Amino acid sequence: MTKDHKNLKNIEPVRVSPEELNRRRETNKVWFSSIVSLLEKFISKIKKKDFFISFIDSDRVVLKTISPSGGEGVFTEGVVINEEFFGTTSIECSLTRNEEVEVIGSDHTLLQLKDWACASSPIHDSEGNIYGVISFTSKLNNYPDYGLGIISSLSQAIEKEVRWREISEYFKLSKKYLDIISKGTKDGIICLDEEAKILYMNEAAGEILHVDIKNSLGKFIVDIVDFNPVILSVFKTHEGYTDQEFIINSPLWGTLHFIKSAVVVRDEKGNFAGVVDFFRKIGRVRKFVTSYIGAQAKFNFSDIIGTSLKLKEAIRISKIASKSNSNVLILGETGTGKEMFAQAIHYEGLRKNGPFMVINCGAIPRELAESEFFGYEPGSFTGADKRGRPGKFELANRGTIFLDEIGEFPLGLQVKLLRVLQERSITRIGGTRAIAIDIRIIAASNRDLSKEIDNENFRKDLYHRLNVIQINLPPLKDRTEDIPILVNYFVEKLSVKLQKNIKKVDDSFIKPLTTYHFPGNVRELENIIERALNICENNELNISHLPREIIKNNPSLKSIDEIKRESLIQVLQDTKWNILKTAKILGISRPTVYHHINKWHIQKKS
Ligand SMILES: Nc1ncnc2c1ncn2[C@@H]1O[C@H](COP(=O)(O)OP(=O)(O)OP(=O)(O)O)[C@@H](O)[C@H]1O
Ligand SMILES: [Mg+2]
Repeated sequence: MTKDHKNLKNIEPVRVSPEELNRRRETNKVWFSSIVSLLEKFISKIKKKDFFISFIDSDRVVLKTISPSGGEGVFTEGVVINEEFFGTTSIECSLTRNEEVEVIGSDHTLLQLKDWACASSPIHDSEGNIYGVISFTSKLNNYPDYGLGIISSLSQAIEKEVRWREISEYFKLSKKYLDIISKGTKDGIICLDEEAKILYMNEAAGEILHVDIKNSLGKFIVDIVDFNPVILSVFKTHEGYTDQEFIINSPLWGTLHFIKSAVVVRDEKGNFAGVVDFFRKIGRVRKFVTSYIGAQAKFNFSDIIGTSLKLKEAIRISKIASKSNSNVLILGETGTGKEMFAQAIHYEGLRKNGPFMVINCGAIPRELAESEFFGYEPGSFTGADKRGRPGKFELANRGTIFLDEIGEFPLGLQVKLLRVLQERSITRIGGTRAIAIDIRIIAASNRDLSKEIDNENFRKDLYHRLNVIQINLPPLKDRTEDIPILVNYFVEKLSVKLQKNIKKVDDSFIKPLTTYHFPGNVRELENIIERALNICENNELNISHLPREIIKNNPSLKSIDEIKRESLIQVLQDTKWNILKTAKILGISRPTVYHHINKWHIQKKS
């Protein structure tokens, strides 16, 4: 025994409790548990029995020792291999130096270890931090030359295993997200390898393309669909694209129409490695567009006010129309409610969840009309979007198209419109294929269409096509009994909007309205009431709040001067004799106000 060899025969090394040991095994299981079971199997087959393999955590606690003999050797489980007790060990050196270390026989400082040899290697996580140490121990006389070699390859194997597990965990998680994304979207997604074989396809893709996903994986895309897949172009160009429109004719499934994006996949060296193909059915695109641009009806029949026989008859026919799919022609002067009726027919019909697309036939410049109505194919004319665009008829699919001012529909396009109505399909400008559309047509006009036909501005055959159900909206002057009802309705409706509190609508306000001829019909009446509410400064509407042309036009019993005098008195009272305000409200100058006060002997009441 040399002097510097400690003999601690009667002193016990530090040891953690069994619970603590279990806790430590649990926290370190990432790196040590998998290899332990493998090693146990391996060791059981080895003839040589006198060596030990130990796993020690970074706090120097022995987590596990395994041996073919079943014994534990010197580094027993739960013991803390600290320097104070064990002195120099390969475990201690390996941990502090962060490298593989071998300590043989008398290089140990503890007497009991003098006839032992031990090799240790640190185990690292993917960031280089030390998880712990693995060590190989045997009696000196049995210690093989390859002790350090064994431990070195074992530590590398453990690190690889841990890394592999981390990666596979990561992939499992990524796959989970990928599954959620690809299942959650209604867009089709197909991943293709560099030869255009299918690596992955989501359910939506299978549905859109009418193919069975399971039978498609690993096959060439050309072999699973019955048309020439447009994605193949990307395999030639190696260039992707975003949101391009494609219309494909499938012999089996008819027209497939979608918006597509293709993303090229490249390997680390930048070589083409495949394509991810995203595609969305055009129906979904249209639905989005129409909800986005607000092509939705907002009126229904209960919003149409009036009890006159003529109006009731118009409502009766419109309700019948709403239950059918036939073309409707609404005729009526401006402001009689043509658009309102068209909306109600749509809103209360079978297509209420589809778009309500308004086309004002007179408002679109002739040269743009065709592309606006019917769309165009890619690159069909200069100035057109390279990618092509759908027209309003296509966007109205499954809904109603309201052709307002049909009398102004360009003569040159009327044949095309007629064909659309007959065939229920459109052909875009520059295209040859017909795109099927399911639309309901409601046309409206405030012109006498028969005159337009006589003047050869409107095709007779088109007129007959549109005129399946005709609805005639009476002018307001022909249903004067509706005027008081409409007045009250608008006063109520607009008071809310203008934040007025009208308690009374005087007869002197309503009477002149019932005899007025209303060239602008209900819209004009609505405007008159909005104006009156704006100028009314108290809570009663009376003659003073009506525009002059209505009072002027009113062949009532009173003379015009009488009416003027009364309205001046009223306005003066309303404004508490504020001459400036009175002049403003009546639209006359201040001197004129004074002139009339004198002329008609109007006196301020005290
Ligand atoms: N019967 C009615 N009840 C309630 N409001 C009505 C009625 N008729 C028309 N209106 C109102 O009048 C306004 C004008 O109606 P609409 O736009 O439908 O008329 P139009 O016949 O299409 O007119 P134009 O020929 O000028 O386009 C509507 O905004 C609505 O508020
Ligand atoms: Mg209109």
